[in-house]
Formats: sequence, structure tokens, C-alpha cells
Amino acid sequence: MSEADSDLQQNTPYKRLGGDAGVRRLVDRFYDLMDEDPAVRPLREMHAKSLRGSREKLYKFLSGWLGGPDLYIQQYGHPRLRARHLPFSIGAEERDQWMRCMNRALQEQVDDVLLCEQLKGSFYQVADFMRNKED
Ligand code: HEM
Repeated sequence: MSEADSDLQQNTPYKRLGGDAGVRRLVDRFYDLMDEDPAVRPLREMHAKSLRGSREKLYKFLSGWLGGPDLYIQQYGHPRLRARHLPFSIGAEERDQWMRCMNRALQEQVDDVLLCEQLKGSFYQVADFMRNKED
């Protein structure tokens, strides 16, 4: 492996976020905000009463998506994220509410400005791809 390759491998967003504990912290803050912020009430109401299952699944998914252990795939197989979101009606408003929570959580927890902006952009792409209704 070249030196550049080994640098890339070592600097996954997963590691830069603080590994397993950092991913957990991000997911916990994201769902706390979803639970507390009146501006995202419609998004909160799409979710189960307890957010415990959602916290666990998003944490496992993000672990792999950010370049760490593929915990979600090991347990549930291919994420098929868009298909799994089809039962929920998702348009620009729902996407923006989701991003409001994630952007705030990232802003609070990721000091590295470049990483923070990169992650906001990558999350937006996934969130936008989840839209399944015309606005
Ligand atoms: C665009 C707006 C989004 C909305 C409205 C939304 C909504 C939801 C809802 C309602 C659930 C079910 C949770 C429950 O059972 O209580 C869910 C599950 C999930 N969401 Fe989202 N989501 C969005 C975007 C995203 C994004 C951007 C990601 C990843 C970066 C993501 C990852 C997941 C995962 C991993 C699950 C669990 C899937 C499973 O059942 O195994 N979601 N989402």
C-alpha cells in the first residue's frame, strides 16, 4: 500500500469523528434534537414513540457509511435505504427537517470545519435521494 493510500485509510470520516463513541454521540444528539425541536414535530411524528430502535439502526448504518465497521449490513443485510423509506411520505419539508437536526448536531460536535461541511453535503445528498413524493 502506498503512503497516500494508507493515509486515506486512516483518515476515514469515522476516525475523524472520534470512532464508535463519536458516531454514537452524533446519533444521540440528532434524535434528541428531533425529539425536542417543535420545528420538526411532523418528522418526529413519523417515527415510533420510542426512538430507541431508530438510534440503534442509524448508529449501525452510519458506522459503515462513514468508513468504520459495517454493523448495519452484518445484522440486516444491504441497507436498501430508499426502499426502506418508501412507507413514509418524504418531500422537501421532511428532508429539510431531517437536515435541520443533522446540521445542528454536526455543528455542535464536529470542530473540524472542513469535515463538518463535507458531512453536511454528503448527508444532504442521501436525504434528498429519499424524497418519494412531489411537493
Ligand atoms: C429525508 C428525510 C428522512 C426521513 C423523513 C426519514 C424517516 C425515517 C423513518 C420514519 C424511519 C423509521 C424509524 C422508526 O421505525 O421509528 C427511518 C429509518 C431509518 N432511516 Fe431515515 N429518514 C430520512 C433520512 C434518512 C437519511 C438521510 C439516512 C441516512 C443517512 C436515514 C437512515 C435511516 C436508517 C438507517 C433507518 C432504519 C432503517 C431500517 O428499518 O432498518 N434516514 N427513517
